[in-house]
This record gives sequence, structure tokens and C-alpha cells, in this order.
Amino acid sequence: MTVADFSRWSTQALGRVERALEQWVPADAPAGLGEAMRYGVLDGGKRLRALLVLAAAEAAGADKHTAGAEAAMRAAAAVELIHAYSLIHDDMPCMDNDVLRRGKPTVHVKYGEAQAMLAGDAMQALAFDVLTPDETPDGVDARLQARLCRLLARASGQAGMAGGQAIDLASVGKDLDEQTLRDMHHRKTGALLRCSVQMGAACGGLLPQSAAWQALSDFGDAIGLAFQIVDDVLDATQASDKLGKTAGKDADANKPTYVSLLGLDGARDESAQLLERARQALVRSGLGEAATAMLMALAERIVHRDH
Ligand code: IPE
Ligand code: IPE
Ligand code: MG
Ligand code: MG
Ligand code: MG
Repeated sequence: MTVADFSRWSTQALGRVERALEQWVPADAPAGLGEAMRYGVLDGGKRLRALLVLAAAEAAGADKHTAGAEAAMRAAAAVELIHAYSLIHDDMPCMDNDVLRRGKPTVHVKYGEAQAMLAGDAMQALAFDVLTPDETPDGVDARLQARLCRLLARASGQAGMAGGQAIDLASVGKDLDEQTLRDMHHRKTGALLRCSVQMGAACGGLLPQSAAWQALSDFGDAIGLAFQIVDDVLDATQASDKLGKTAGKDADANKPTYVSLLGLDGARDESAQLLERARQALVRSGLGEAATAMLMALAERIVHRDH
């Protein structure tokens, strides 16, 4: 696969994800709530989680049948809704107190704190709504719907993102050891990325006991942790206009990160090792180099990105 192949695939996939979100996030939610929700999720973000769902679904063969492809697009939109909700809340004054996100004022700056809280709440619920369409003969069957809901719920809640965010807030000003920091990063960011890969795999019918499922989960685990390590590095090295969010916040807020623990070189080495672990996991999946090429390209992008 060439760079041009990846770019063609991702442009096409991104267009489909954007159209799906545009269709599913209602403009007419009451009292301005719809406007705040759409502002928080549409037209912004790299959509890496959605791309991971779609690439994993294709690796597992979900694109070869209508129900699998439909389920994958729903899962891609759902994980982006959960992610966007987590960002809206992460930026609020009671958490990271950020005013810039995706190159625009944050949702609470634009619409107020109460509306930002509600927009996040409503987007979390909408994610599970999107995953559970009415059953039709060609549609997503109830068992797959339930499986996708379970994966997303576990990655979003106390065992995943919300739990990790709680550790993050409780760790301000503390020196965490590597094991505790890794656990925080795995939860707050890694869980949703791994879940993206697992949801794609589930859409292709891979079962949790299978070697391919285990290998793809390990791939998701490695790139999930790498993603947050790179986020820590970018916070310390990039400019705000490049990131679309305020740079240098972690040191200012006294947050323990991979950069504060290992230094920039140590953090970069760690992300490079995780990329290698991800590559080996794809080989182990037995799905083949061609089928997993998009996943590998995404892993490289996650580790080598500049924003
Ligand atoms: C930022 O995630 C927040 C973290 C979990 C580190 P992204 O870098 O994926 O943010 P968007 O979606 O592209 O804005
Ligand atoms: C956020 O981590 C992880 C989430 C669950 C949203 P950060 O606080 O480092 O994310 P940014 O840097 O604000 O995007
Ligand atoms: Mg945070
Ligand atoms: Mg933050
Ligand atoms: Mg950050």
C-alpha cells in the first residue's frame, strides 16, 4: 500500500463519517442544545478513532456485507461522539479549564458551562442510540448491537475513560511511578482507541476467543497508550496554532505525564517501542499484510503525527 492509497482511503472514509455525524447529531434538540452538540462534534478533529473502527472492520471483512458495513459506520460515529463528549467535559473549568479546542473556542466558552455539560451528556446518550437502530432484515442484528454497546460502555466508564480522567485530576502535582501513569493513560485515552479497533473487529464477526481478536486488541492497546504519550510530547513541543488547543498546559497545570517522568527522548522511545509492538500484533493476527495495511498506516500516523 502506498501513501497515495492511504490518503485516498482516508479521504473517502472521513467524508462518510462526517456525513453520518451530520445526519445523526440533531440540530433541533431543544433550547440551543443541538447547536452546542453540533459545534462540539462536527467539522473538527482528526477522526482517528473512527478511522480505526473502519480499518479494523475492513481487516476483519465487515465491508463485504451490508450489515457489517452499516454497523461499522455506526460504531465509527458512536466512538467519535463519546470522544467529543469527553473533550467538551475535559475542557471545562472544573477539569482542564481550556479555552481553545480544534482551533475554536471551547464549547463552554461559546455556550456556557451548563450547556457544555448537557451537550456532553446528550452526546454520550446519542452514541448508544446510534448503535441500536431498529432491526430490519438487512440491518445490524441485536447480538452485534449489544456487543458494540458493551465494548463502548466499558471503554467509556470507570474502567476506561472516566476512571482515567478521575486519576488524572487526582494526580495534579504528584509524581506518579511509571506503572500508575501507564494505568492512567491506558484508561483515559487507550481504552477508547482499543475499543475502536475491537468494535471494528466485532463488525467483521471476529469472536473474543479468537487469536485474531486477541492480536487486534493488543494492537489497540499499544497504539492507545502510544497515542496519549505522543499527546504529552506534543503538548510540550508544539505551538497552540498547530495543535488547535493551548500548548504547554500539562507543565503549567503540574500534571504528571510521560514527558515529566521520562523526558522528551524517553517518551519518544516509549512510543516507538509501542509502534513496534503494534506492528508485531498485526503480524500475529494472521489477517495478512494487505488486510491490515490501513491499520498499520494509522498506527504510524498516531505515533508520527505533529498535531
Ligand atoms: C485529544 O484527542 C485528546 C486525547 C485523548 C489525548 P485527539 O488528538 O484525537 O483529538 P481530535 O479528535 O483530533 O480533536
Ligand atoms: C484528555 O487528555 C483525555 C480525555 C479523556 C479527553 P488531555 O487532557 O491530555 O487531552 P487534551 O490535551 O486536553 O486534548
Ligand atoms: Mg485532561
Ligand atoms: Mg485536557
Ligand atoms: Mg493533552
